[in-house]
Amino acid sequence: MKHKRCHGDRKRLQRDPVTLGAVSPPRSVPDHIVPPSYVTTGTVSDTRTLQIQDDDSLLRLRHACQVAAEVLIEAGEAVAPGVTTDAIDAVAHEAYISRGAYPSDLHYNGFTKSVCTSVNGVVCHGIPDDRPLQNGDIVNVDVTAFIDGMHGDTSATFMVGEVDQPTRGLVETTREATLRGIAAVRPGLPLRCIGEAIEPFALSRGFTVVREYGGHGIGETFHAAPHIYHHVERDDVALFQPGMSFTIEPMLLSGGTSFTQAEDGWTEHVDDAMPSAQFEHTVIVTDTGAEILTVTADGKSAAGVALSPS
Ligand code: MF3
Ligand code: CO
Ligand code: CO
Repeated sequence: MKHKRCHGDRKRLQRDPVTLGAVSPPRSVPDHIVPPSYVTTGTVSDTRTLQIQDDDSLLRLRHACQVAAEVLIEAGEAVAPGVTTDAIDAVAHEAYISRGAYPSDLHYNGFTKSVCTSVNGVVCHGIPDDRPLQNGDIVNVDVTAFIDGMHGDTSATFMVGEVDQPTRGLVETTREATLRGIAAVRPGLPLRCIGEAIEPFALSRGFTVVREYGGHGIGETFHAAPHIYHHVERDDVALFQPGMSFTIEPMLLSGGTSFTQAEDGWTEHVDDAMPSAQFEHTVIVTDTGAEILTVTADGKSAAGVALSPS
């Protein structure tokens, strides 16, 4: 029961709405780095087909995911009070480039930055800008790396300075919900197992799960089939099969469930300014479960890799 929210928590969770700042010009990518086709053509033609990996393609996907995990760690180390989200974007951008990867977000459907940075009540798709992070904020940094024809996608919510206990509870519950969703995957079971592992757990801690966004198949295509529900979706009976690669990326809310897109066409912010958190891993279905691909060569991730023993 120690994690259960009480009434006084709402006041501590409540934030001033995040104000949007000025966005700097897109960062440039050296010519030797190969961008995804949507950057060259200007149109995203995401095939809604399953992404199933064989031995060769899995090696390439593993590498893209490893790069994404490394970029996320570097970006997270830059998070501190007074640092702008644009400065975090700059750190991430260099981290992709130095590894020969293209930042998949950059010029995806008109997005002009190399990561998404979503602060407090921004649910997702925040655009890095000149707003300095404040002590007590939380910020999700969402990294997607494209290299050798593969996308690897991972995100974590980081604490800025001293964060109050109810907000830390939101963040840790979201991390655990993500790992519980991953642990529920078994070949032959229905996809809805993920939502069944995540939503009741989130509700038991006093949080709700965003229904409007889900995880997605990923590999040669950034956003592919299947759609991954993070809430209980009874009719989602398609089965996990070995070799399927997709993301699990639940967003949890501490307040009301309605949110609105900002005029920038991307930033999704909750209407009551209560904080939300998100974590994301790219995984692959094995013969016995799911393996997290978005980890470093020595198995680390800023998003967490193992459920802590309770
Ligand atoms: N990385 C996000 C996801 O998890 C997608 C970001 S697309 C962008 O699927 F254009 F907003 F960057
Ligand atoms: Co992502
Ligand atoms: Co994703």
